[in-house]
Amino acid sequence: MNASNEKATLSFSDGTPSIDLPIYKGEVGPDVIDIRKLYGQTGKFTYDPGFMSTASCNSKITFIDGDKGELLYRGYQIQDLATNCDFLETCFLLIKGELPNKKQKEEFDTLVMHHTMVHEQMQFFLRGFRRDAHPMAVLTGLIGGMAAFYHDGVDYTTERERDVAQIRLVAKMPTLVAMAYKYSIGQPFIYPKNNLSYTANFMQMMFATPCEEYKINDVLVRALDRIFILHADHEQNASTSTVRLAGSSGTNPFAAIAAGVACLWGPAHGGANEACLQMLEEIQASGGVEKIDDFIAKVKDKNSGVRLMGFGHRVYKNFDPRAKLMRETCYEVLKEMGLENDPLFKLAMTLEKIALEDEYFVSRKLYPNVDFYSGIVQRALGIPTDMFTCIFALARTVGWISQWEEMITDAEYKIGRPRQLFVGHATRPVPPIAKR
Ligand code: SDX
Repeated sequence: MNASNEKATLSFSDGTPSIDLPIYKGEVGPDVIDIRKLYGQTGKFTYDPGFMSTASCNSKITFIDGDKGELLYRGYQIQDLATNCDFLETCFLLIKGELPNKKQKEEFDTLVMHHTMVHEQMQFFLRGFRRDAHPMAVLTGLIGGMAAFYHDGVDYTTERERDVAQIRLVAKMPTLVAMAYKYSIGQPFIYPKNNLSYTANFMQMMFATPCEEYKINDVLVRALDRIFILHADHEQNASTSTVRLAGSSGTNPFAAIAAGVACLWGPAHGGANEACLQMLEEIQASGGVEKIDDFIAKVKDKNSGVRLMGFGHRVYKNFDPRAKLMRETCYEVLKEMGLENDPLFKLAMTLEKIALEDEYFVSRKLYPNVDFYSGIVQRALGIPTDMFTCIFALARTVGWISQWEEMITDAEYKIGRPRQLFVGHATRPVPPIAKR
């Protein structure tokens, strides 16, 4: 963070003496005004529900230019990474800050792929859930349960323990997600195979059965691996901020990641891919392309409470670069599966075209986000709709744990504790019950 000679001068109409606040410049992106001394010097807080104008930390991991529609992991464009790297290379990059060389990649892949098993007792956690429980509810419980196996006796102030926790989470998340799926359909759990790639192994744990040899489809594996890359990290989004805030108390990292899983589940966040596919299926069921105009009219009617799921973003006011890559991946998978004429894909592309020309969306800078196509491609891969956000959580785990590591090792690290504007009752006496 570069301290600059620039400052912001805050003056008050109520006679509070004006103050100067330092301005810091990042490598790229907006400057920040350091308000840490504001309350001490003025007795006033800032007010920013939803953190529309607030930087919660400084970070070197991911940069988003919402106006340009640009996404960088450690300075590399998402398009370059999705085309030239695999997911474990991206994990190495997010965790360590640099892309691995050949030797480092081999060592990292071997390390991760030899930590994919979970404690055999984890299967008993699952038995406590109903079979029809939402997989994100199950996954939240399983990750929280991992804290019980890797208990508080571990000292996360040491780099070695933090490294071990990071590898365990990246390595075991696919196994837990696959177990949640197998449990929901009453099939036996499939053990990981260390000789497969990370994503091929995940697909065999999801779709293999003990009854026959599972055939790996390299096109589908590559497509899912790219989906993981696109979802790996995204600056200080809601679930990452949740992991940072939970982790700032010094809690067990598995517990902090469980909080991130819980936050990601919401339809305004990671749950949007599931909600988007349900939206497309509803439009399809009500008449398909002919009914798009009726649906768009409902979206524009504020009283309907209907949103175009998979559209809009707090930061992107241009195309989400991940949405473009997801649309390409979607077409590749549908072609491989002989589903080029998939009605939902055609419906989604028609809906996208209409929305991008409609003044309501254009004036609000609402563009397709990462969730708009991800549901269609996951459905084509055989992943059931209610598992979509688990896939998102699997991929985002490396981002969460990288951001957790960055926070823990930041010299400015403190427990997060926001304040409030209190608008409730001031002091009042408790009346006797007869007078209430
Ligand atoms: C993810 O933060 C991240 O980085 C998240 C994520 C990540 O990788 O971690 O990118 C993943 O969560 C992507 C977003 C997935 N969510 C959805 O697709 C759900 C649908 N989208 C929205 O609910 C909404 O766009 C948000 C939540 C994504 C962003 O909301 P904001 O920034 O709080 O904007 P807003 O709700 O204040 O909307 C501004 C205007 C409003 O209209 P007006 O009051 O100005 O008239 O745009 C409208 C909103 O009504 N609007 C939409 C809309 N999104 C915003 N109208 C219709 N459909 C939509 N999808």
